Amino acid sequence: MNSVFRIYTFFALTLLLVTLAFGLLATWAFLYPEAYNRFLPFYQLRPFHVSAALFWIISGAVAGVWFYKKEEFPKIRVSELLANTFMITWMLTILSIFGCYAFKIFGGREYWEFPPILCLPLLTAWILLMVAYYIPWYKSSRPKPLYVWMWSTGIFFFFITFIEQNLWQIPWFRYSFLREVTVQWKSNGSMVGAWNQMIYGTALFLMVKISGDASIAKSPKAFFFYFLGLSNLMFNWGHHIYNVPTAQWIRDVAYIISMTEFLFLISIIQGFKSKLDEQRKFKHLITYRFLIAAEFWVFMNLLLALGMSIPAVNRYTHGTHITVAHAMGTTIGINTMILLGSFTYMLGIDNKTEYSKRVINVFYWISQYSLGIFWVTLIVAGIIKGYRTTVLQMDNFNEIMKPVFQAINILSYAGIGLIIGLGTISIIYLKEIIKKKQRILEYNNNIN
Ligand code: HEM
Repeated sequence: MNSVFRIYTFFALTLLLVTLAFGLLATWAFLYPEAYNRFLPFYQLRPFHVSAALFWIISGAVAGVWFYKKEEFPKIRVSELLANTFMITWMLTILSIFGCYAFKIFGGREYWEFPPILCLPLLTAWILLMVAYYIPWYKSSRPKPLYVWMWSTGIFFFFITFIEQNLWQIPWFRYSFLREVTVQWKSNGSMVGAWNQMIYGTALFLMVKISGDASIAKSPKAFFFYFLGLSNLMFNWGHHIYNVPTAQWIRDVAYIISMTEFLFLISIIQGFKSKLDEQRKFKHLITYRFLIAAEFWVFMNLLLALGMSIPAVNRYTHGTHITVAHAMGTTIGINTMILLGSFTYMLGIDNKTEYSKRVINVFYWISQYSLGIFWVTLIVAGIIKGYRTTVLQMDNFNEIMKPVFQAINILSYAGIGLIIGLGTISIIYLKEIIKKKQRILEYNNNIN
């Protein structure tokens, strides 16, 4: 494994730290605008935070796919070269994006609020990654396990949805506000499906490696899950566009598919847990714990999503902190937990001394409890706002927000807990990447 990849994994984990830091700053800027507006206003901090979060998830997902795929495909020199070019272009573009935010140069759309010209290097980088991935994929004659199909689907659909996400740059899409918003919300929803394919594929890979049972990725249930995920990716966006006029059947299909995908993911993780013998579990305890955390958060977010996807409820929750709870509950609870499990496995953290593992365990539990308080507080803030605007019909924003601000205050403390928990784990992992220097993340077969 080369040093560009090492820098890339370091960069991806640093994005997690940046996400956490800007999340807390954004919360304070929201609570105390008079103190922040002069130097770091909320409108500047939010894009910093949200873009860092999305890039952490996408970059972390690619790091896993690129690292584990070595086991599945033969090494091809040209593909390594292309992948390095992808990584360098990708990192430099993200740095430029943050540079633009620092100078208050905006211009894109929700979640991608940087000048759209920067989408070009991102797209070029992704095309390089696709070529680097699909050439050895095509050349490999070995049967491809399900997680490889999931990675391949995710990479391809990210490309499609990224282009779709940029269609607003064609004037025809902008002529109608409704058309533009529909395409925006739709493509953002599908893009989540694309990175979920990469991340869930990695979760499946980890389950196979930890249990030593390859049948997990070959069972009919797992294949059904793949097709469900694929249809989710194509249709789940229906629940992102409840507020624009659409045919009722699109909403119904989206609702059923997105809920069943969650159920199947829980069922696959439970199947893996029930078959796993204790010895293998203890050998991979930290990786295992992150996967189990993801299972818990899938369940909690399923409950929330079930509620908020009911169109009558969605009318009230849309635009409140309940939507934010859904977005952060899934990106932190599911995506980040699986990705940290993936980094744990990649860096061989399960092989560290008992003492180091105990330290990580403490910060792991700090993260879980803080996330719990964080998530519940967001939901409470959403319920209060929804109740005051729709049931009490209040229209004075300051009046509506008074109790909401109190909830956000509690959230900021839970956020500090999250920073301590996830932040410390990230710093331990970053140190591990630096320490590995020459052996650079060499795939550690003894942990299999
Ligand atoms: C791994 C860590 C995190 C991830 C992946 C993450 C992800 C996200 C995402 C995707 C959004 C957009 C939500 C939406 O538009 O509905 C968001 C918004 C936000 N996040 Fe986070 N977040 C993380 C940690 C934090 C922390 C620790 C805090 C605070 C202490 C925080 C505070 C915020 C705030 C204030 C917003 C803006 C909400 C609004 O516009 O009303 N985040 N985050």
